[in-house]
Amino acid sequence: MKQAAFAIAVIAAGVANAQSPAYGQCSGGGGTTTRTTTTARTTTTSRVTTTTRSTTTRTTTSATGVSTSADFCGQWDSRDTGTFILYNNLWGSGAATSGSQCTGLDYASGNTIRWHTTWSWQGGPYNVKSFANANLKFTPKQLSALTTIPTTMTYTYANTNGMVANVAYDLFTASTSGSSSSNYEIMIWLGAYGGAGPISSSGSTIATPTIDGITWKLYTGPNGSMTVYSFVASNAPVTNWSGDLNNFLKYLTTNQGVSRSQYLNTVQAGTEPFLGTNARFTVTNFSVAVN
Ligand SMILES: *[C@@H]1O[C@H](CO)[C@@H](O)[C@H](O)[C@H]1NC(C)=O
Ligand SMILES: *[C@@H]1O[C@H](CO)[C@@H](O)[C@H](O)[C@H]1NC(C)=O
Ligand SMILES: *[C@@H]1O[C@H](CO)[C@@H](O)[C@H](O)[C@H]1NC(C)=O
Repeated sequence: MKQAAFAIAVIAAGVANAQSPAYGQCSGGGGTTTRTTTTARTTTTSRVTTTTRSTTTRTTTSATGVSTSADFCGQWDSRDTGTFILYNNLWGSGAATSGSQCTGLDYASGNTIRWHTTWSWQGGPYNVKSFANANLKFTPKQLSALTTIPTTMTYTYANTNGMVANVAYDLFTASTSGSSSSNYEIMIWLGAYGGAGPISSSGSTIATPTIDGITWKLYTGPNGSMTVYSFVASNAPVTNWSGDLNNFLKYLTTNQGVSRSQYLNTVQAGTEPFLGTNARFTVTNFSVAVN
């Protein structure tokens, strides 16, 4: 399933909080007086140049038999490893004046995947262009039935000069199993580069919980009828992290009124670019399992 993150981002102009990000993801629905909505997406008939880039024809087979192949560059291209679906997912590319992005699989075995994505995006500075991500295939489970969601994420980001982007987990829950109509989106930001910031109604953190060894700045805001909670690592970028994603869900059911009867339907992790040139995100070790 393709789960785009957000279609609209706004500049956090005039926000009093000095820590507010310059580039914020924001919903169209949340009204506050501290944000100025951009109208940059009115030119959405622009281009998708991403399918024209030629790729190498490298094809290799890893020791475990999962073949890797040429990077894929099409807007909705993906690769199924059996455990994960690796998406290029250039959902917001229409907001760019130019750019392209290609994603490739480096290794996959069991619940571990290694992959990379390379991109350049110019224009539409306050809009997310894409969400290249590894999406775990699993049977949806009610939050009350979850025991652990162990995960490791190790990555590098190259050519970050002038880059605005995040590195984040993206989870979706709904009142019914497998529904694409989500009630909650839960993001866990390990990286926040160049002033990138999450959806926030107030522009301020609502809490600073310590979970799995990191103090997180928690933000919330609406995306249509969906409520988004974003945990941003206070010491971002965190490039090598292991934790239990269920601890974040437990925090939200205990402290934010999220119902334990919600179904966890989607678990994915990747990067959301706003702006950058020849940025290269390499995931050297990502593993996750829903138990
Ligand atoms: C809200 O999130 C969904 C993903 O569930 C996305 O497709 C949509 O574009 C977002 N809408 C806005 C207004 O951000
Ligand atoms: C990541 O952290 C683990 C556990 O602390 C460590 O064993 C590993 O070497 C680290 N990897 C990198 C690339 O720093
Ligand atoms: C990847 O992470 C897993 C889980 O923490 C760990 O067991 C494994 O050693 C790591 N592999 C590498 C190559 O770092």
